[in-house]
Amino acid sequence: MPQESTPRRESKRTVQQMVLVGVIATAAGIALGLSIHWFPPANSTQADKIDTLWDVLIIATVPIFVLVTVIVLFAVIEFRMRPGEENLDGPPIHGNTKLEVIWTAVPAILIIGMVTYAYIVLHDIEKAPAAGNPERQVAVTGQQFTWSFAYNEGGKKFTSAQLYLPVGESVKFDVRSKDVIHDFWVPDFRMKIDAVPGITTHYRITPKTNAIGNHDIVCAELCGLGHAYMRQTAHVLSKAGFQAWVTKMTRQPAATGGGGGGGAQAGTTDAKALFTQGNPDTSATACGSCHTLADAGTTGTTGPDLDKVLKGKDAAFIKQSILDPNKVIAPGYQANIMPTNFGDTLSPQQVDALVQYLSKVTNK
Ligand code: CUA
Repeated sequence: MPQESTPRRESKRTVQQMVLVGVIATAAGIALGLSIHWFPPANSTQADKIDTLWDVLIIATVPIFVLVTVIVLFAVIEFRMRPGEENLDGPPIHGNTKLEVIWTAVPAILIIGMVTYAYIVLHDIEKAPAAGNPERQVAVTGQQFTWSFAYNEGGKKFTSAQLYLPVGESVKFDVRSKDVIHDFWVPDFRMKIDAVPGITTHYRITPKTNAIGNHDIVCAELCGLGHAYMRQTAHVLSKAGFQAWVTKMTRQPAATGGGGGGGAQAGTTDAKALFTQGNPDTSATACGSCHTLADAGTTGTTGPDLDKVLKGKDAAFIKQSILDPNKVIAPGYQANIMPTNFGDTLSPQQVDALVQYLSKVTNK
């Protein structure tokens, strides 16, 4: 019976081809998926577990994608309509219990497996450090369009516009918002959570040894016109470096409180450097990154051109514009773009030095 055996042999060969193509595509897909650097460096202990989870999901999902794609492609080629078959109907099939049990049970087992593993990872990365390992708490506040970080180091409280962390110590962030929903994210640490008005959300990370250096802090929730500018820096320091920073931050109020010392500091404040680079201690945003000022050579266009809007204005107006920027909005610009926390991130001496400088160079 050569007429019957030929199609059977052909369909067997087709299945062999599908398996071969499927195996090659799976191997290539997994190799490609694992070789691509999807993420920035993994700088927290949590990041390692998340990246491993990602790799496992690639290994688990590529074969399924290949299985579906290969069957669809082969079916299209194999069962295509040939000339003369325009009026033929397919064979009447109704149900296949074995097949239905398989395609229900296998995905169910796969999903239960992946959900269980993901749950274990989630539980792991949210776990508090073991007893005896202290954990630092940092209060993160999001507002249009800046983050601020409140510390309590041995009873001494202070706020910083940039995040500083010691390496190897767990930190728990208490995340809040003053206005709309933001999202606190340091991609190098992987963890990410919404800052929601009215509630406090949390996550914790432990910076790894390789984390020493600077990391971008990003707002990951569209929160208004300045969303893209809501970027700051997380500085991971050695434990000694962090202690030195804490000492500096906790000493600052005393220095500014002393009348004579404060006066001397104002004399040495380089207002132009402050304008172009911000405050290196609290890393207050540099004015020049958003504003044009001919004397400082900056060309920012996010905020108004200071050569124009400050011309003929007195020192009181300039000071108000720095500390309470929403009070007077230049025509063509919108409120709530400029951070309102310069009163916290600049010392009174620095504000005065900036006011003097801007008053001088815009009223030449
Ligand atoms: Cu805050 Cu986007």
